[in-house]
Amino acid sequence: MNRHVTARVLVLAFFAAAGVAGAESADWMRDAPEPWERSRLQIGYAIAPVPLDTRGKNRVLVGLGSYIVNAQSACSDCHTHPNYAPGGDPFQGQPEVINGNGYLAGGRQFGPFTSANITPDAHGRPAGLTFDQFKDVLRTGHDPDGSGRILQVMPWPVFGKLTERDLRAVLRIPPRCSVAPG
Ligand code: HEC
Repeated sequence: MNRHVTARVLVLAFFAAAGVAGAESADWMRDAPEPWERSRLQIGYAIAPVPLDTRGKNRVLVGLGSYIVNAQSACSDCHTHPNYAPGGDPFQGQPEVINGNGYLAGGRQFGPFTSANITPDAHGRPAGLTFDQFKDVLRTGHDPDGSGRILQVMPWPVFGKLTERDLRAVLRIPPRCSVAPG
């Protein structure tokens, strides 16, 4: 294992193991009473490839959202193109560096379909969507442009099964999102 990867694994292992103890001291963690959720929050903060904007937001949901977007549901993988910064491609055996500039900005081709830009607009809404619109897209797959088209490739039949709280968490993730939506 190379040095960077080892360091990253150690950091993650530390957060996973020390999550409960470390969490005890943070006031905002009281909204996440379960140890398993606390370790998700710790990992969510540790793996975010861009600085997370927590101003005016529920920090539990921000950490949880990062965990879902960057690990559990791979939104970041399909919606960031290219995925990795030059020299940071783990598929080439390089220490992973995610392309922070293109993070969630879409552009990855899947045959005739291209992943959408889901970075927030000036009001902090990913792809300009309010929470209700966002929830509708994830639950029904209806293209938010109102055309009646059903989104392809995008695994909405899977993500539509997430809890409402998880969906709210996902919506709090994108960087520069300073307005808490919904
Ligand atoms: C397997 C790849 C893949 C994954 C994983 C994925 N997406 Fe997508 N997503 C797409 C593609 C491709 C489109 C465009 C589909 C189309 O135009 O038919 C899309 C479209 C969307 C749209 C519609 C935006 C618009 O303005 O049209 C939203 C919102 C969205 N994705 C959010 C998410 C979120 C949130 C996650 C994680 C929970 C996620 N996606 C995970 C591939 C993916």
